[in-house]
Amino acid sequence: MAAQPTRSTKSAQSTDAITLLKADHKEIRRLFADFEKAGDGAQRTKQRLVDRIIELLTVHTYIENEVMYPRVRALLPDLEDDILESYEEHHVADVLVMELSAMKASDERFDAKTMVLIENVRHHIQEEEDDWFPEVRNGLGRKTLQQIGGEMAEARKSAPTRPSQPSALRKAVDAVIS
Ligand SMILES: [Fe+2]
Ligand SMILES: [Fe+2]
Repeated sequence: MAAQPTRSTKSAQSTDAITLLKADHKEIRRLFADFEKAGDGAQRTKQRLVDRIIELLTVHTYIENEVMYPRVRALLPDLEDDILESYEEHHVADVLVMELSAMKASDERFDAKTMVLIENVRHHIQEEEDDWFPEVRNGLGRKTLQQIGGEMAEARKSAPTRPSQPSALRKAVDAVIS
């Protein structure tokens, strides 16, 4: 889906796409570290952190899926394989996020599932930042990166903040794991 016909602010227009995504990554990584530092019994803290992680990841994945990935795929065909792998990694994260959103911190598997999510997303973020974002920066001009950044800033305004239908998914998950 393309971003809404733009009424973008000047600041949105001047946001560099990669800078914007890296700022999200930094915040996500900080929450991961906070989760790992939280003690075994700190269920309320962990629940709050996971709620925030779910929100940030849902929005971030949305703006990448809707704007960044399709633009890069169209403009830099050499990165097609990286983009396709990244979509698959998003899919794995989406599944984990949906499962987590249907759980409580008191659930036996909550910490374990959160750790698997953290490990997966850390790996994914590292691949974005180290493997193909630098090629995007080299391949696209500053102006194009700012334009994509502006589109992402617009898309963020209407991005979902929670995965859709966790209760429906919970039934599917229960059916699979029981
Ligand atoms: Fe991503
Ligand atoms: Fe990302």
